[in-house]
Amino acid sequence: MRKSISFTIILGVTLLYACGGNTSTAAATTENSNPSTYDPNRGEGKFTPENVTVGAALDVTMATTGEAIAGTKCTSCHKLTGEKLVGPGWKAVTERRKPEWIMNFITNPDPMIDKDPAVQAALELCLVRMPNQSLSDVDARNVLEFMRKNDGVK
Ligand code: HEC
Repeated sequence: MRKSISFTIILGVTLLYACGGNTSTAAATTENSNPSTYDPNRGEGKFTPENVTVGAALDVTMATTGEAIAGTKCTSCHKLTGEKLVGPGWKAVTERRKPEWIMNFITNPDPMIDKDPAVQAALELCLVRMPNQSLSDVDARNVLEFMRKNDGVK
């Protein structure tokens, strides 16, 4: 038992470390269960373009709350620049992904890690599955607003 625990830790540390550099090691990508019904613009989950609305201007209060949440739950793995840490850097993430995609992913990453081509490509580089951070819908929306601020929305 002990032995297998320390093996797991060593393996985990090795995988974490590998994400920082360029590695050609192939990640174990999960087989896609049903690619034909998956919408890569929206992702998978309850969020849609209709129920996630973002303003032209930043909501400063939400962004400030989101920044605090990100500081405790996200920035150990994500830099605010474009540089990869454990996961991809957040710079320009709101340009790469639709608001509903981000909301679906950050509230429940697992189904999208299994299906989304872009996430699978990231997984091959990072070799780590983003863990579910148990974000409430409100927390997730605040973090999204902070990402918009990080991308220059004023
Ligand atoms: C343990 C490390 C870890 C933590 C903590 C983490 N992430 Fe991630 N995140 C990843 C990895 C790794 C990926 C790349 C996809 C994959 O391999 O699962 C990722 C991908 C993402 C993406 C997609 C980025 C892109 O460019 O497509 C978003 C958005 C994201 N994370 C948001 C968050 C938010 C919000 C939090 C905090 C609530 C968070 N992450 C916490 C590791 C982490």
